[in-house]
Amino acid sequence: MLQSPLTPLADPFINIQMDRIYKYTVPTRIDFGPGAIGELGKILSGLGLNRPLVVCDQGIRDCGLLEQAIDASGLASKELPVFDGVASNPREENVLEAIDVYRGESCDGIVAIGGGSVLDAAKAIGLLSANEGDLDDFDIFKLGEAKIQNKPPPLVAIPTTAGTGSEVSRGALIITTREGVTRKMIAASPLLVPQHVILDPNLTLSLPPLLTAGSGMDAICHAIEEYLSPRLHPVVESIALGALERLARALPGVMKDPANLADRGQMLMGAMMAGIGFEKGLGVGHSMSHAIGALHDIHHGALNATLLPACFEFNRNEIPEEAATRLCDTIGIDQTREGTPLDSLIVWAKALNEDFAIPQRLRDLGVPGEDREILIELAMADHCHRTNPRRCEKADMEELWERAW
Ligand SMILES: [Fe+2]
Repeated sequence: MLQSPLTPLADPFINIQMDRIYKYTVPTRIDFGPGAIGELGKILSGLGLNRPLVVCDQGIRDCGLLEQAIDASGLASKELPVFDGVASNPREENVLEAIDVYRGESCDGIVAIGGGSVLDAAKAIGLLSANEGDLDDFDIFKLGEAKIQNKPPPLVAIPTTAGTGSEVSRGALIITTREGVTRKMIAASPLLVPQHVILDPNLTLSLPPLLTAGSGMDAICHAIEEYLSPRLHPVVESIALGALERLARALPGVMKDPANLADRGQMLMGAMMAGIGFEKGLGVGHSMSHAIGALHDIHHGALNATLLPACFEFNRNEIPEEAATRLCDTIGIDQTREGTPLDSLIVWAKALNEDFAIPQRLRDLGVPGEDREILIELAMADHCHRTNPRRCEKADMEELWERAW
C-alpha cells in the first residue's frame, strides 16, 4: 500500500518507505561570489539572449543596481527595455503591464534584479508571455501547473536581498482580485525556475537594516518550517539545517556590521538553500503571512518573524523534542537554557525580533484587528499550513491569530 506523503517527524531515516516512489526536483545554475554580476554578459550569450527585458522596482533603479546590471549585460548599447514597476507585494497589474513591454519590445528573455517580489513578478511575466490565459487560472489550486503548456523564456535571477529564495524556487506569488476577493495566487512549475542565478553579496551591502532583518528572518522561517514539515524529503531536511546554520549565525553579524561581505555571502547562500527547500513544504506561519500580505503592504519577512514565536508555541505538542534539540544545536543555542529545547527556541526567536526592532505582535506591525475573520479565512485557503506539523482547521487558525495578534 502506498503511504501518505506526510509522515511523522520522529525518524525520517526509518520513515523512508520502500514501497513507494518519491519525486524530487533540485534546480538551477548558480554563480556565487562578490563580483559575480560581472558574469551576466557571458550568461546571457550562453542562453542566446540578445534582447532581455530587465525587470526591477523603482528602488533598484534609484540605488544604481539597475544601471550596474545593464552595464554587466554587455548589451548596454542596445538600450535594453526595462520594466521597473513591480510593487513591494507584486500585483497582477504589474505583470500585465510588463508583458505589454515584453511583447512590444520583442524581448527574448528576462533578467530580474531585485527582491523576491521582482523575481516572482518576472516568473509570472515569463509564464504569461508564453502561455495564453487568465493568470488566476494558473493557480495551483485550479490545477494550474498542467495548463503551463509552453516553456517560458529564459530567466536570469539576480537577488538583491537574502530572503525569499525565489531565485531557485518554482513558485510565483502574485496578488489577484476576482469577484471582489483579493488574495495571493500561486503559480508553480519546474518550468518557472530561473535558468541561471547570480548571487553577488556586493549587491546586498546597501540593503537597509530593516530590510536585511526582515528578509533574513523570512529565510530563517523557511528553513525552520521546512525542517518541521512532516513531508518526507531527506534532501531538503539536510539543506534546511545547513541553511539555518548559516542564516542564524550570519544575520546577527550583518546587523552589527552591514559591510561584512563574508556574512552577507552566507546570508545569500543560506537564503538560496532555504529556497531549494520549499519542496518539503512550509507551515502555518507562512499561511498567515501570505494572507496578511495579500491585504496589507507589510513586509513578508517581518510578518513571518513576528509570527515565529507564536508558531513554535502553536506547534508545541507536535514538535518532537529530538527535532527541537536539533534546531537548537544547528542555531547554536543552549537547548536547556529555558527548560525545554522548544522554550529555548521561543526565547531565541523573540530575542532576535527585539534585537532587530521587529514587533512581537501583529497589531504592532499594523495588522488591523477588524480583519481577523477575512485573514483567518485567507490563511485557511493558503496551502502552506497543509505541511504544518499540527493539523490546522479553522479553530486552530483562530488560536494562532489570538497568540500572534
Ligand atoms: Fe517567505
